[in-house]
Amino acid sequence: MKCATILGPLGLLVSAVSAVKVNPLPAPRNITWGSSGPIPIRNVNLRTSDSHGHNNALIQNAWDRTWSAIVDLQWVPAATEAPIPVFDPFPTGAGKTKRASAATAVRSVQLSVTDGDADLQHGVDESYTLEVTATSGSVKITAHTVWGALHAFTTLQQLIISDGKGNLIIEQPVKIQDAPLYAHRGVMVDTGRNFITVPKILEQIDGLALSKLNVLHWHLDDTQSWPMQIRSYPQMTKDAYSTREIYTEADMRRVIAYARARGVRVIPEVDMPSHSSSGWKQVDPNIVTCINSWWSNDDWSKHTAVEPNPGQLDIIYNKTYEVVGNVYKDLSAIFTDNWFHVGGDELQNNCFNFSTYITEWFAEDPSRTYNDLSQYWLDHALPIFRGTGGPKRRLMMWEDIFINTDAAHNVPKDIVLQSWNNGLTNIKNLTASGYDVIVSSSDFLYLDCGFAGFVTNDPRYDVMTNPGGDVTFNFGGNGGSWCAPYKSWQRIYDYDFTANLTAAEAKHVLGAEAPLWSEQVDDVTISSKMWPRAAALGEMLWSGNRDASGQKRTTQLTQRLLNFREYLVANGVMATNLVPKYCLQHPHACDLYYNQTAVSP
Ligand SMILES: *[C@@H]1O[C@H](CO)[C@@H](O)[C@H](O)[C@H]1NC(C)=O
Ligand SMILES: *[C@@H]1O[C@H](CO)[C@@H](O)[C@H](O)[C@H]1NC(C)=O
Ligand SMILES: *[C@@H]1O[C@H](CO)[C@@H](O)[C@H](O)[C@H]1NC(C)=O
Ligand SMILES: *[C@@H]1O[C@H](CO)[C@@H](O)[C@H](O)[C@H]1NC(C)=O
Ligand SMILES: *[C@@H]1O[C@H](CO)[C@@H](O)[C@H](O)[C@H]1NC(C)=O
Ligand SMILES: *[C@@H]1O[C@H](CO)[C@@H](O)[C@H](O)[C@H]1NC(C)=O
Repeated sequence: MKCATILGPLGLLVSAVSAVKVNPLPAPRNITWGSSGPIPIRNVNLRTSDSHGHNNALIQNAWDRTWSAIVDLQWVPAATEAPIPVFDPFPTGAGKTKRASAATAVRSVQLSVTDGDADLQHGVDESYTLEVTATSGSVKITAHTVWGALHAFTTLQQLIISDGKGNLIIEQPVKIQDAPLYAHRGVMVDTGRNFITVPKILEQIDGLALSKLNVLHWHLDDTQSWPMQIRSYPQMTKDAYSTREIYTEADMRRVIAYARARGVRVIPEVDMPSHSSSGWKQVDPNIVTCINSWWSNDDWSKHTAVEPNPGQLDIIYNKTYEVVGNVYKDLSAIFTDNWFHVGGDELQNNCFNFSTYITEWFAEDPSRTYNDLSQYWLDHALPIFRGTGGPKRRLMMWEDIFINTDAAHNVPKDIVLQSWNNGLTNIKNLTASGYDVIVSSSDFLYLDCGFAGFVTNDPRYDVMTNPGGDVTFNFGGNGGSWCAPYKSWQRIYDYDFTANLTAAEAKHVLGAEAPLWSEQVDDVTISSKMWPRAAALGEMLWSGNRDASGQKRTTQLTQRLLNFREYLVANGVMATNLVPKYCLQHPHACDLYYNQTAVSP
């Protein structure tokens, strides 16, 4: 990397990359810029001698998309660390003597993929190399799999810029060696609390692909609504919000295919046995319990749900398992990923009072506990979940099934647990206990937090007529958002989720996901709440949050992320703005501290 000592924005000595303005996100693991000057880009064709089997079309389509984006956007970096060098094709002026640039124009991408058939599944090799020299006339890309090649394209898409005068260039020769730190890099979308249309889901996938995130965890339903069409039980969509707020099989397959074409896995979640009412009750009202109870937040002894509306699957009623099995089988025939998330969070014991099957089961043997009930669920449901989806089926569950007061006794170690409570404490516990973990700590990675509460009739907000109410709640409190405050991109990026883990424990962390629960999210707000914060997670999971010397590089991410936000919007992903545009245009003028040390590489 070509570094130079220059004067920082506030006159302090800082060490900065002076060569280029391009600042791709996520920062590659290893990027080395040359210094011989800009390389012109002509009409670039994809050349590849390898066969990628059934992935041939996928690669060609991905390149066509990449090239269209480059040509259509004529991208000029929006937030850079240094001014943009202008490429002058007529250096002696006025175009009189049409002299070629010293560099050979790039006219092709030479792609080499060693294993063209590798499927998009957890752990597939996503590495790639990319090199452009002054004289090669091509971009050379190597990758083990087509999925690595897709990442090379999204990098190249950010490297090729317009010089602002109608010329596409790469600013300097460049060499990249890149691969992700974590195999599982995702976000979670919730289409149960509010419906999200297919085009809006595809927009999220565009954002995921550009930021090299590779998992869309799709929390399909919840107690409030059941949007997906199930072949065995067409009546379940009577509990969709409307006949238009439904995912047909074709819709689900379209999302999966669109994601796959962009290197994004789609992991479905049907949350069971809690968070279950809509849809299920249309098949047989007896397979769900407490759905007509009051959720009762004011009388805790009668509390049946963490939020309205109540409902859980009846764990003891036999027919529950028949219906669960058919729903799971139908969805497994649609979703192509080896992984399937089967929920397992937030069981509310009071809800079970409403089931005669369960109360009789407890009465039969007074020594039985809620832990036994959780175990009963696993013992009866796991054989169903394992029996469908092929030998590579991997189950994912929320950590509650193992770590809650009412957890099951024996949770098989091959179940991937998604950790959302108690930050590092739970990550330590789960990994020390031998589980593979996906980190989603709510204190750091929940994107829905800090927008007040959604429940109505809440007197705590009225400090005028109700000063005895809750002043601390409103001023300095959580304001009704249980996971307040809003998680800023800096908070997300700074989260060292493997802190305090042994090397063996750290190996159990397969990656992370930023969930966006949708009580207060629909088509209008999803993209602005998701982006660009999810991209900060994307970089953290791809190349880390520290520089080569081990120092946090959050301040260095600033301009990269501000640029990327503009780039997302230019690509149709409606990411929220983060700063006054002034800050974007004046690198680090809006930093909190005058001391720029944190910016140095
Ligand atoms: C990064 O790439 C350059 C050029 O290929 C190489 O010399 C260097 O050793 C690499 N650095 C690391 C940390 O891999
Ligand atoms: C459920 O039963 C328990 C134990 O009998 C009782 O404490 C609780 O109040 C009951 N909850 C409801 C919602 O009836
Ligand atoms: C559930 O089915 C089993 C046999 O498959 C039977 O022994 C049991 O009585 C049934 N339980 C209920 C609550 O219907
Ligand atoms: C993990 O937490 C559970 C439940 O709190 C506890 O019983 C167990 O001892 C903990 N395990 C470790 C390894 O910390
Ligand atoms: C790491 O563990 C030490 C000792 O158990 C504890 O004092 C510290 O708070 C932990 N750090 C974090 C970030 O949890
Ligand atoms: C800036 O902060 C760094 C790290 O905290 C410190 O070592 C350095 O002395 C500070 N520089 C100035 C000029 O205050």
